[in-house]
Amino acid sequence: MTSTDDAAHDSMLALTRRVLRLHEAGSTDMAAAPMRQSLDAYVNPERWAHEVDKIFRELPLALALSVELPNVGDYRALHVAGVPVLMVRGGDGQARAYVNACRHRGAPVVEDGRGHQDKGRFLCPYHAWAYDDRGALVAMFGERTVGELERQDLGLLELPSAERSGFIWVALKPGCDFDIDAWLRDFRPRLDSLRLADWHLYCQREVEGPGWKVAWDGYLEGYHQQMVHPQTVGKNTIANLMAWDAYGPHQRIVFGRKSLPQLSGKPESAWDAQVHIRLIHSAFPNLSISGIVGGHCLVSQLYPLPDMAHTLTVQTVLVEALPRTATERDAAEVFSQMALQAVRDEDYAIGRRIQAGLGAAKEGFIFGRNEPSLQHYHQWVERIAQWEPQAADEKQAARNRSRQRGHGHAA
Ligand code: FES
Ligand SMILES: [Fe+2]
Repeated sequence: MTSTDDAAHDSMLALTRRVLRLHEAGSTDMAAAPMRQSLDAYVNPERWAHEVDKIFRELPLALALSVELPNVGDYRALHVAGVPVLMVRGGDGQARAYVNACRHRGAPVVEDGRGHQDKGRFLCPYHAWAYDDRGALVAMFGERTVGELERQDLGLLELPSAERSGFIWVALKPGCDFDIDAWLRDFRPRLDSLRLADWHLYCQREVEGPGWKVAWDGYLEGYHQQMVHPQTVGKNTIANLMAWDAYGPHQRIVFGRKSLPQLSGKPESAWDAQVHIRLIHSAFPNLSISGIVGGHCLVSQLYPLPDMAHTLTVQTVLVEALPRTATERDAAEVFSQMALQAVRDEDYAIGRRIQAGLGAAKEGFIFGRNEPSLQHYHQWVERIAQWEPQAADEKQAARNRSRQRGHGHAA
């Protein structure tokens, strides 16, 4: 065992011990008090637009896994909060991100999805301008007829990005303040310990879900396991039991598996610590890495859609080793299908019903002491977005005044 393995084992052992003690005491990690959250945080469209702008367009987001772009020329394109993004691994091995919009007249240079750059260039499907793996404009169809232009100024707009801990992190505003190490800080060793860049992509799909906060709230607690997931993840996990740690805005949640109580009274030297707990790493605001068990892992990235009542989740299943035997394939498939069912048919099914009834929840919601992770998330949303309803009212009043002045001129 290497010293890193030792550290990981110690930490799994320490976490197992911690969750077991909580379980034996009939307890769970708790916040100081219950917290009330106003309905406004879920339904106010101006607040939502402001928060999406501050949180999804200005912070570093993990938009792709490194294993999605293993080779030079591999790319991944997707829309995030209305911005078309293209990530590509350049000839120097570095992954970079660009706005996926041709500098001629805005066509996306590739369709959303994953692929490999053909013939070393992206050829815009509208009028055949061509870009290389560094986003540089390298050819224009009928260049002499287009007229005098400085080609070097017409590359794809680059977005701030960095590759860390098995993910490509991107901010959607060109030129915005971007310091990935300051952003991840002490959460980075936690992510690094998962070694996700060494895992393999088993499958990836998109799942439509309810609005951003309704959907994401469900990723942050295990209080609902028994009620919502009796036949899937709840079969293996003890409900309402978690050890919780925060790393700035990011969080780690540890659940106990139903086998955990077997450890009571046994010497720690006889524990197989990996087996009795389940770790969730949650990077603010929309990345969850969960279910690392038996060489399988579920990565979820949740994105708001233009309609605030809906989101899109990119659900990726990773395997520690690609399955080679029928038994290994079956095990990966069972894990993958269980993840899909638990999220699409269980979490998002209740989430859609909550979303549909939001208008009636006038008193807002309660995050119990046993949901410290939800309290933490919502507090960080508020801290980062700094929503000020008064400022918004003033802006609206100014817009109304200028509209009225506009009408005056027209008349
Ligand atoms: S929009 Fe891309 S070449 Fe015209
Ligand atoms: Fe759930």
